[in-house]
Amino acid sequence: MLPFQTLLQPDKQLKQHVYQQIAGRLINLIQEGILQPGSYLPGSRVMADLLQLHRKTVIAAYEELLSQDWIVAIPRKGMMVATNLPLMKPRSYQPAVSPYAQTPGFRFNTQIPSLPAQVAPTKTRLVVNDGAPDVRLAPLEEWIKACRSIIQSPQYPKRLTQGPTAGSENLRQETIRYLSHTRGLRLDLQNILITRGAQMAIYLAASLLVKKGDAVIVASPNYFYADQCFEQLGAQLLRVPADQDGIDTDAVEQLCRTRKIRCLYIISHHHHPTTVTLSAVRRMKLLQLIRTYQLAVIEDDYDYDYHYPTAPILPLASADHGGHVIYIGSMTKSLGLSIRIGYMIAPAAFIEAATALRRLMDLRGDNLSEEALALLLADGTIERHLKKSNKIYHERRDLLCRLLTAKLGDAVDFVPPNGGMALWLPFHRRHPLPVLATKAAAQGVAISDGAHYNYGGLSLNALRFGFASLNPKEITTVVNILAGILQT
Ligand SMILES: Cc1ncc(COP(=O)(O)O)c(C=O)c1O
Repeated sequence: MLPFQTLLQPDKQLKQHVYQQIAGRLINLIQEGILQPGSYLPGSRVMADLLQLHRKTVIAAYEELLSQDWIVAIPRKGMMVATNLPLMKPRSYQPAVSPYAQTPGFRFNTQIPSLPAQVAPTKTRLVVNDGAPDVRLAPLEEWIKACRSIIQSPQYPKRLTQGPTAGSENLRQETIRYLSHTRGLRLDLQNILITRGAQMAIYLAASLLVKKGDAVIVASPNYFYADQCFEQLGAQLLRVPADQDGIDTDAVEQLCRTRKIRCLYIISHHHHPTTVTLSAVRRMKLLQLIRTYQLAVIEDDYDYDYHYPTAPILPLASADHGGHVIYIGSMTKSLGLSIRIGYMIAPAAFIEAATALRRLMDLRGDNLSEEALALLLADGTIERHLKKSNKIYHERRDLLCRLLTAKLGDAVDFVPPNGGMALWLPFHRRHPLPVLATKAAAQGVAISDGAHYNYGGLSLNALRFGFASLNPKEITTVVNILAGILQT
């Protein structure tokens, strides 16, 4: 018998499970020809004695090898190394074929809108994003606990293979409850579709509304990925100016009077990129226009949950809009941008169509995350987290405003946002952002060069300064570095 005690010594310090280590080493012995095809492994009891392990560990290792076809169980004889091995020499394996072709051998649609690349920092110490949450504050322990309790629940194996395209029913119910409590929305299950973030909801809504050549009104500047969704579908974008009260509703009316408008896209709180909030007066005016011109409205309220000095204004969707508003929201700002959960609220027939469309690209969402979020909404974790993070982000916003005024002076010109995670920061023309971004990158600070916000032919020399994800020390460091660069 081979000296398995020395050949198979597991390392208990390793993260890899001991049975996996044993299975892996036995595979190596087979590959190296030390364990010959047709030879037998010691019985599990004998092997467990040899290795000083629990017999169950050895059985688990053997089951692993059986499942991979390295060994076969021979009745009354034991475990035999397979004579027909799955892969004889993986270690010396060299790909026989040429590398995967990089040039497609067919024509395809390359007319997908895209954005210019941003300046990459040489050694990133700090990243100023365009408005992301601070994941260091997120209730991740609670998230892990919720995930664990779901995985351990008896229903989980079934849930893992099933689930409605519209999203976990628990999450839809909890979101309905949450939206009723925070936005006064009165919804049924057939009014809600869970999506992978607000972005998917924008794309689905746009796809169902817009055909090639349709006119879509957006603010200027606008959230570039929404613009690109509409453009991808062949829409003609009609850009309307926006000021501190949001999109210019007189200009919207003017367009509605003169031509057929397919839809209007608005961001009712903390417009992207300029962070302005649509005023109550303009909301009223829009409601009137919606009715007069039978406008379809996509109301993207991705940032509603983060508002500082005052309460947010109720969305258009909460008013009587006669079935014209598709309301979109996001949960990605609470737990982290990669936990991709958002939602679309709309009349039942629209949700049904959006669900069918979603199914074509994504059969269902991530059930585990959806169930976990439902638990955290139900037990109040999300609301507590929002309360805490609103307070912290409010302080960070104030600190950033103070520092920008004190250290950057007239190089910048900004209005403090009344919520959200970013501050819209236009720089004086004498400080071109591409130059500033390159210099900041050399000092380990990644800032936008502003190119994304110029989408649609603009020339703004402005960026979104995401303050929420930076702590006070980090905000201070970034502003000091920018101030230093501007002084040279
Ligand atoms: C205005 C706006 N809408 C939608 C989104 C997409 O959000 P999500 O991460 O939920 O897809 C963003 C992302 O920042 C945004 O700024």
